[in-house]
Amino acid sequence: MLHPPLLAPSLLAGDHAHLADSAATVAASGATWLHCDIMDGHFVPNLTFGPEVLAALRRAGSKLFLDTHLMLAEPQKYLEPFAQAGANNISVHIEPAYDHRGTLARIRQLGCQCGIVLNPGTPASAIEHLLGDVDLVLVMTVQPGFGGQPFRRDMLPKLTQIDGWRQQRGLKFRLEVDGGIDRATAKECRAVGTDTFVAGTSFFKAPDKTAFAAAFAKL
Ligand code: DX5
Ligand code: ZN
Repeated sequence: MLHPPLLAPSLLAGDHAHLADSAATVAASGATWLHCDIMDGHFVPNLTFGPEVLAALRRAGSKLFLDTHLMLAEPQKYLEPFAQAGANNISVHIEPAYDHRGTLARIRQLGCQCGIVLNPGTPASAIEHLLGDVDLVLVMTVQPGFGGQPFRRDMLPKLTQIDGWRQQRGLKFRLEVDGGIDRATAKECRAVGTDTFVAGTSFFKAPDKTAFAAAFAKL
């Protein structure tokens, strides 16, 4: 396997009245990534938080790798604020119409890693031409907008296809899944090449978060 398994707990499932505490809980579990779901109420029917929350987490001392998932209709307009706020990876969706390649290049110019994201209804072919330009491909295993939805098992063939392209072309991007991920569904995704796992509900509901994180490291 190209990359060891990596857990990215999702802040969306944290305590929105105490987000710095939720980030500290993630760090205490041994996880090194924090998945930050940014929603605009247009591309997805929900609203979450903006760059100021990432900046506040940094001011509160968080050293986590901020894996920032922009579920925005116009993500190209918000790259600088998130990069300046402390994002480490910025992932943008393929579905809205904008200059995808130019946006991915701009994210890297800003000093961040870049990811491309596809919704369950979007075929892998939609991002094939960008595989050489990204550090991460995020395959949504739920329709984005809300945590706590059931895992979409029908996404497994898409993961197989993208992992196959990665191997055939000697590419090194991370392959990430997001939505309905727990230890069992993560195992199914790992079996088809996934290496990076967003877990919101399952992580924050876990009674022993250190054991939860350790289980992902052994996937
Ligand atoms: C949904 C978000 C997911 C979500 C994870 O739009 O992108 O990251 O927070 O959801 P669960 O709670 O299923 O892990
Ligand atoms: Zn997400």
